[in-house]
Amino acid sequence: MLASLHMTTPSPVRPPLSIVILAAGQGKRMKSDLPKVLQPLAGKPLLAHVLDTAKQLSAAGIHVVYGHGGDRVREVLAHEPVQWALQAEQLGTGHAVAQALPAIPDDHLVLILFGDVPLIKSETLEQLLASVDDQSIGMLSVILRDPTGYGRVIRDHAGHVVRIVEHKDANTKERTVPEGNTGVMAVRAQSLRKWLGALKNDNTQREYYLTDIVSMAVREGLRVKAVPAPTEIEVLGANDRTQLAQLETALRSERATHLLVAGAILADPLRVDVRGDVTIGRDVFIDVNVVLVGNVRLGDRAHIGPNCYLEDCEIGSDTRLFPNCVVTKTTIGAACSIGPFARFRPGARLEEGVHIGNFVEVKNSHVGKGSKANHLSYLGDATIGEKVNVGAGTITCNYDGANKYRTEIGDGSFIGSGTMLVAPITVGANATIGAGSTLTKNAPEGKLTLERAKQMTIEGWKRPKKKT
Ligand code: UD1
Ligand code: CA
Repeated sequence: MLASLHMTTPSPVRPPLSIVILAAGQGKRMKSDLPKVLQPLAGKPLLAHVLDTAKQLSAAGIHVVYGHGGDRVREVLAHEPVQWALQAEQLGTGHAVAQALPAIPDDHLVLILFGDVPLIKSETLEQLLASVDDQSIGMLSVILRDPTGYGRVIRDHAGHVVRIVEHKDANTKERTVPEGNTGVMAVRAQSLRKWLGALKNDNTQREYYLTDIVSMAVREGLRVKAVPAPTEIEVLGANDRTQLAQLETALRSERATHLLVAGAILADPLRVDVRGDVTIGRDVFIDVNVVLVGNVRLGDRAHIGPNCYLEDCEIGSDTRLFPNCVVTKTTIGAACSIGPFARFRPGARLEEGVHIGNFVEVKNSHVGKGSKANHLSYLGDATIGEKVNVGAGTITCNYDGANKYRTEIGDGSFIGSGTMLVAPITVGANATIGAGSTLTKNAPEGKLTLERAKQMTIEGWKRPKKKT
């Protein structure tokens, strides 16, 4: 019966959203030549992390306020759908937001993010956005164990937020407040424009503080809704190398947990680095110190040994990588045995059941089903058929100093150890090449081909002796 009494309240329509990301700061405390927002976290610039989150919020526009290292910042994100606003001089966070405002219509809701706070989650931001209406502004606050350095959220006796005081401007009592300002705010553009225009820099830092708009809103009778961030790490800024390392550790652990939840077996969740998007099958095993970069796909029961580096690659089901392999832009089929110490460069493609052993390098080559190169080889620009045996020390001599040439090796052939295949060259199917040959001409199929000087023994020869 109760159900029939339930009234559906229409959810208020959210105004169009504009996001402003502040990224003009230099980040002096990083002691780096790289602008702060370009410092890498899990292999990706801090600003790119914020941008990826911003893109999940279906905003009408994303504006990046840049300044320090401007050209490099714009270059790195040149392909991103953002509008740029230059803040030539860093006069404070309020001044920074003001640089983006001319491009934002009055009826938009403006969400302000910091380019150096990379782990903020879109869910948290959605909550903040949902909390604001035209009678309020929203801010993300955080309860801190050590709020030193943060702006403090000051509330009245009724518990309503009345203003924010920066750490440097706060008195002893205000500094005991554990609730900090994260810097993330959501405000209607029209009000923001008015308040930013009225900011003064009469504070210890001589800056135009964005945070001063809080007391302005209160004075006009608006509510300030402080939404608490779920965790401290989500709103941690990367101001120096220590904080950047803290963020890296946190993100590594979060991503390892994702892998575990997806079903991976990790030898040690603290010692696997995911720096991209990893897709895994069932019962995948990943040993310690494995680094996964870009797009990596690991098939069912793939086994990745310790110290492997995998970038933009696919590893087939039941394939095993022994320790210390480097795999870049490569596709490895099912049931292969790889390494230890094997190296795959871009364009390597291995079919099922291939064995590539220690100190073998494969580049831009296709290796057919069941073929083996188990020791000390270079296979570059080669097409290798099925069930080929490449002997130890075989090299495809693919480069004459100016041009690259291809080597073709037919199905079922046997390449003796220490063979130099001077490309362009073709070895026919089921051919056998004698060990130590340097082939400059094609080897016909089904026959033994070798190139070898006649062995001789010099009678009466004496080994030279050192003078005493
Ligand atoms: C700011 C907040 C503080 C909050 C803290 C959280 C103000 C006045 N203070 O302080 O309340 O607790 O963040 O981390 O907002 N930036 C520009 N242009 C400028 C100044 C800053 O783009 O002129 C950018 C920086 O690159 C950075 C962000 O704004 O991404 C924050 O600036 P920062 O100087 O780190 O502010 P805090 O002093 O830490
Ligand atoms: Ca900061």
